[in-house]
Amino acid sequence: MRVSGRGSDAFAGPVLVSLLCALLPGCVCYNTSAQIDPLVYEEQLLWVSGGQGHVDTYRIPVLTFTPKGSLLAFAEGRKSSSSDIGAKFLAMRRSTDKGLSTFKRYSPAKGRLVVCGHGTIEGDGVFCILSDDHGKSWRNGAALKSIPYNQKKSAQDFNPDECQGHARKESRSKELYFDSALVDPVVAAGALQKNGILYFTNPSNDRNRVNLTLRWSLTDGSSWEKNAVQIWAGPSGYSCMSSLDTGSVEDRKFVFVLYEKGHKDYYETISFVKIHLYGGR
Ligand SMILES: *[C@@H]1O[C@H](CO)[C@@H](O)[C@H](O)[C@H]1NC(C)=O
Ligand SMILES: *[C@@H]1O[C@H](CO)[C@@H](O)[C@H](O)[C@H]1NC(C)=O
Repeated sequence: MRVSGRGSDAFAGPVLVSLLCALLPGCVCYNTSAQIDPLVYEEQLLWVSGGQGHVDTYRIPVLTFTPKGSLLAFAEGRKSSSSDIGAKFLAMRRSTDKGLSTFKRYSPAKGRLVVCGHGTIEGDGVFCILSDDHGKSWRNGAALKSIPYNQKKSAQDFNPDECQGHARKESRSKELYFDSALVDPVVAAGALQKNGILYFTNPSNDRNRVNLTLRWSLTDGSSWEKNAVQIWAGPSGYSCMSSLDTGSVEDRKFVFVLYEKGHKDYYETISFVKIHLYGGR
């Protein structure tokens, strides 16, 4: 049976969870914010810069999902240098088993030209046009809207170029302000709202892109829990978070982070991390 009333939902949820917790000692109830105890569960490198496939640098990770529960990871393959300017292609890998086994590689459409730019009159984001006839004709490709999604941009809206990340706080109705708890070297960060909790990843250092850290907030970003989790101490840059919600209990336990990771420089690899939100229990 589905309860459709929003009000009764909001009431029944926590009561039911507390009741189950009381009745079943030792059971883990997956919606008690106090139990959030993120654990790096597994990690795999999806792209390694230099050499392989004659790509100088992989950068700019983006992680998203499909309605059927596949995870899609994207990165820019920068052909001849790590610079923002120059020939590049979009690399994609897909996992149909919640990131358990290796992500499958996908070849980009051969000969296709892809040109992407930022923003239109309707709103900000990234928009691409495609040509399969060497530039004779073009058509609209995908659009990745930025915050606020699918709404007309207003003057105070923050516009992250990559991912849905927003280092520091973004809010439409309130004034923008700097959150001093979110130490940041100026970078594209990751953010994700899941089951009433806001998660945030960035290199938590005020000068250098190092120390990729996961934080979480039980108050929609007004305050952050003290016990942050370090994902990688070394060089780390942009990050992007995602999670699945196909209705399974498993999906409630995990979030996924795709981030730039290195030993000497943060753009050496792009790594995928599966994080168990309840300490692996
Ligand atoms: C989980 O808890 C949060 C915070 O109390 C609440 O907002 C959310 O609706 C709950 N989710 C479910 C599915 O009960
Ligand atoms: C890493 O981040 C944590 C959490 O913000 C902080 O306590 C620690 O000092 C940071 N370390 C470095 C080397 O930046």
